[in-house]
Amino acid sequence: MKPTTSLVLFLLLLLLISISTSSTTTTIPATPSPISSPTSPSTLDPKQLSALHALGLSNTLDPCSNPSPYNNATSCDSSRPFRHLLSLHLSNCSSDLPISALRSLSTLTSLSFSNCPLPAPRLLPSSLSLSLHSFSCSSSLHHLSSLFLSRLHNLSYLSVLDVPISGSGVAIITSHMPHLISLTLSRTNLSSILPHHWHPLHLSHIDLSSNQLKGHIPYSISLLSSLKALNLTSNSLHGPLPDSLGDLISLRNISLSHNSFSGPIPDSLSSLSSLVHLDLSSNQLNGTLPSLFSSMKNLKYLNLEDNNFHGVVPYNATFIKRLQVFKVGRNSNLCYNHSLLSSKLELGIARCDHYGLPVSPPPDKSSDYSGDDEDDGGGGGSGDRRRSDGGHHSGPSKLVVGVAIALSCLVFLVVFLVCLSKVCGCR
Ligand SMILES: *[C@@H]1O[C@H](CO)[C@@H](O)[C@H](O)[C@H]1NC(C)=O
Ligand SMILES: *[C@@H]1O[C@H](CO)[C@@H](O)[C@H](O)[C@H]1NC(C)=O
Ligand SMILES: *[C@@H]1O[C@H](CO)[C@@H](O)[C@H](O)[C@H]1NC(C)=O
Ligand SMILES: *[C@@H]1O[C@H](CO)[C@@H](O)[C@H](O)[C@H]1NC(C)=O
Ligand SMILES: *[C@@H]1O[C@H](CO)[C@@H](O)[C@H](O)[C@H]1NC(C)=O
Ligand SMILES: *[C@@H]1O[C@H](CO)[C@@H](O)[C@H](O)[C@H]1NC(C)=O
Ligand SMILES: *[C@@H]1O[C@H](CO)[C@@H](O)[C@H](O)[C@H]1NC(C)=O
Ligand SMILES: *[C@@H]1O[C@H](CO)[C@@H](O)[C@H](O)[C@H]1NC(C)=O
Ligand SMILES: *[C@@H]1O[C@H](CO)[C@@H](O)[C@H](O)[C@H]1NC(C)=O
Repeated sequence: MKPTTSLVLFLLLLLLISISTSSTTTTIPATPSPISSPTSPSTLDPKQLSALHALGLSNTLDPCSNPSPYNNATSCDSSRPFRHLLSLHLSNCSSDLPISALRSLSTLTSLSFSNCPLPAPRLLPSSLSLSLHSFSCSSSLHHLSSLFLSRLHNLSYLSVLDVPISGSGVAIITSHMPHLISLTLSRTNLSSILPHHWHPLHLSHIDLSSNQLKGHIPYSISLLSSLKALNLTSNSLHGPLPDSLGDLISLRNISLSHNSFSGPIPDSLSSLSSLVHLDLSSNQLNGTLPSLFSSMKNLKYLNLEDNNFHGVVPYNATFIKRLQVFKVGRNSNLCYNHSLLSSKLELGIARCDHYGLPVSPPPDKSSDYSGDDEDDGGGGGSGDRRRSDGGHHSGPSKLVVGVAIALSCLVFLVVFLVCLSKVCGCR
């Protein structure tokens, strides 16, 4: 017994030692110690190290160790004799952080602020502006200017969320960013029009949702051949949806809801075979629904509610059940063919008459058309409808059934008691 426990203890000790040494040695992986003295906790450029300390990162941990000791907030290159900072992610900062310390950090390629209520510098130092590939700012820096952002010429990734942006708008910001891949400017109070010229090569993600953008979607949007996601939800855009949207064959997500777009859905949209998510809700779109949507194999989310569409819904139950979300409600002139679609689908629209017009005017909510519909529509009486309309009719009949059951229970009990007393009497 004794030798085995001491062996275990010995192994544990070995493990502990190897863990503690590995955590100190990984900072200089497999390279002989550079010029820095062995007492120095880090091989990071001393100027950058003191800038980090000024920015509130504690001085007991090595910001270049891997993984970063600050919740992934820092990473470094491996240059010698001193390493340099590549990324810095500041979050939940105190409001008195000396943002001017960024001046020593012009080697950063990635910089982000999240929940940092600091006053923004008017501009970043120009060497830092040019070295950044990624800039993200969420609920931070009070406000930013278009000029501040427009100077970040080398960005691939730009995200500003919940920060007001002043100045002339989207085109100014992006016009000198030829490498941009992903653009998010959401809840930024921008009120410009959409850019007519983009650097089309790489741009794959545009989210300009929840601003006050005005004007049309420019026809030239079709040049963005790499575009995978376009989100223009909650703006003040109007005009028709351009046919050329159908040229963006990489598109997977389109959200154009809560604007004032009008006119029909372009047929070209149904040729977007990669499309997964299409949200056109809460606009003034009209015309009939494109029947070709039902041939879109990847579609999972289709929201067309709250528009002015009319006519018969041209989709069958197979298609609708394949989707995760299908919404067509609040289109008062739209109806469904009740010999093709059951009322159980609860589409939120009326069924069609023989002429393809809605049977019941939707404002008339008190009278119960769908109740009758269930009987002749082949749907059968179902218990799982959420509508209160259905409950209206079944309410009294349920009461009757309940009373009947209670009565028969009572009768059964009486018979049982009588039998019991007879059996007892025989003894
Ligand atoms: C740390 O950052 C790297 C690259 O920036 C990322 O891939 C990784 O998921 C992050 N880890 C955590 C725990 O956030
Ligand atoms: C910042 O604060 C939020 C909530 O207050 C928290 O969820 C998040 O983890 C914090 N981030 C860091 C890096 O501490
Ligand atoms: C811009 O980024 C590229 C790599 O994406 C890099 O080669 C170039 O040096 C950067 N420009 C500046 C001014 O840092
Ligand atoms: C948003 O923009 C409007 C003008 O377009 C301006 O009056 C308002 O102050 C801005 N709001 C914020 C929070 O900057
Ligand atoms: C588009 O943006 C809105 C608002 O920011 C968001 O709720 C929605 O999920 C986004 N759509 C997609 C497909 O990501
Ligand atoms: C696309 O939409 C889906 C929801 O349908 C969402 O989960 C996904 O994040 C979106 N992708 C992009 C790039 O917006
Ligand atoms: C659709 O709306 C436009 C105006 O926005 C109108 O000119 C057009 O006639 C409408 N089309 C239909 C089929 O109602
Ligand atoms: C439903 O519509 C799809 C596409 O139009 C078609 O392929 C399929 O055969 C239809 N299913 C039924 C049961 O009619
Ligand atoms: C409903 O569908 C049936 C069967 O396909 C068809 O005969 C009828 O004309 C359709 N009614 C309307 C209004 O489209």
